[in-house]
Amino acid sequence: MRRGGIVFGYGSLIFRPDIEFKSREWVRVSDWSRRFYQGSVDHRGVPGAPGRVATLLPQPGSHCWGVAYHVEEAVYGAMLERLDIREVGGYDRRAVTVQRRDGTALQDVLMYLATPDNPGYLGAAPIGAMAAQILRARGPSGENREYLYRLAAALRAEALEDPHVFGLEQAVRDLEG
Ligand code: SIN
Repeated sequence: MRRGGIVFGYGSLIFRPDIEFKSREWVRVSDWSRRFYQGSVDHRGVPGAPGRVATLLPQPGSHCWGVAYHVEEAVYGAMLERLDIREVGGYDRRAVTVQRRDGTALQDVLMYLATPDNPGYLGAAPIGAMAAQILRARGPSGENREYLYRLAAALRAEALEDPHVFGLEQAVRDLEG
């Protein structure tokens, strides 16, 4: 039996985990796509001028790469309490199965998911509009574009694809000039 737990991060949890983990590894979750469709008024935006941050959309046949953090039992409960506060802006917990790079599965992995029924959800918009919003927005955790750039850099460093993330990154950089 597993002691402790595993948390899957696909957004800020990749580059700013604030998790006391004993190990981490890149994994993919199947049938989900990462999208900058969640509004953020507590981290990368403010009320009235939300930023855009990542959530996952169900999409059969697709997959999303992220990081699985293996956490010891002794610190797991306190870590969940901290993450519940951090992800309070629309994110719910969900247990999923993920695949490691060698193809083996990890079961009962926790992820935070912002679904379309939460009040902060923004959904799809033309890429230029999303890029302009990301370029403008900033909040208590910093600039919205920094979130996007750091996520893109982390994926690129692992040679992992995500057309939505890289397309948005390019669009924001183009607007920056
Ligand atoms: C995550 O990183 O897994 C959750 C979304 C976020 O906080 O960016």
